[in-house]
Amino acid sequence: MADNRAIGVFDSGLGGLTVLAAIQKKFPHENLIYFGDTARVPYGSKSRDTVIRYSLEIQEFLIKQDVKMIVVACNTASSHALDEMRRKNNIPVLGVVEPGVRALTNNYKNVLRAAVIATKSTIKSGSYDAAMKEVNREIYLYSKACPLLVPLIEEGFTDRKATEMILREYLDEIIREDIHYIILGCTHYPLLKSMIERLYPGIVLIDSSIETAVMLEGLLQTHNINSDSGYRGTMKLFVSDITDSLLDMEKLFFGGTIDSLEKITLGW
Ligand code: DGL
Repeated sequence: MADNRAIGVFDSGLGGLTVLAAIQKKFPHENLIYFGDTARVPYGSKSRDTVIRYSLEIQEFLIKQDVKMIVVACNTASSHALDEMRRKNNIPVLGVVEPGVRALTNNYKNVLRAAVIATKSTIKSGSYDAAMKEVNREIYLYSKACPLLVPLIEEGFTDRKATEMILREYLDEIIREDIHYIILGCTHYPLLKSMIERLYPGIVLIDSSIETAVMLEGLLQTHNINSDSGYRGTMKLFVSDITDSLLDMEKLFFGGTIDSLEKITLGW
């Protein structure tokens, strides 16, 4: 029996649209509901308790929309809130931290040293270290918080000298450690891929979005909740604030093809 209920995807803001796009590409027949907490972004500088509270509110909202499972596209929320979310409901919940680690270990054999760059809150949680220990104990993982990158990207500074200088400040340290594989542990960082590759030729950047879609496929199968293939899925966007960049981002990722966009207010 097919399950045509939607898959819920959420992020602190709009960066998670990269994950939504990878999911839509792989599963065009699934209905998708995305929630971007644009009124409360960033999560990366907030405490664990606050990130958990926000994530549980969003989960409650998505469950009211009758989703069959939830993908937490935000690395910070994935780092803090997965256990609490799973305790509070009985639908599957997938985060992006484990897929990020697997995107490295599945695709690049014989890697012994790697780094993860992420928000302060993600690094402080130790989530990537824990996931790496589960997946491959042999790999040394160097963790680096890069708190200035999200504001620069939000300002559209993806090709500015100022961003290059800040990137060097963060990444030179990693290169000095003789590390050439970097997991992009934040929804926003894929937007700096070309700048990083230009500044550090030969560097390998690991983006979790495709691996998240691969792990999602496994979960849909295990729980027997695939939708009818042959059916065109819908895509609904909910946000907690309509911001200037929202419509630009939607056009960038989906060319204005989403089926609906609605602003909602969650409990504060
Ligand atoms: N979505 C967040 C993450 O992936 C980045 C933006 C924020 O700090 O909320 O960690």
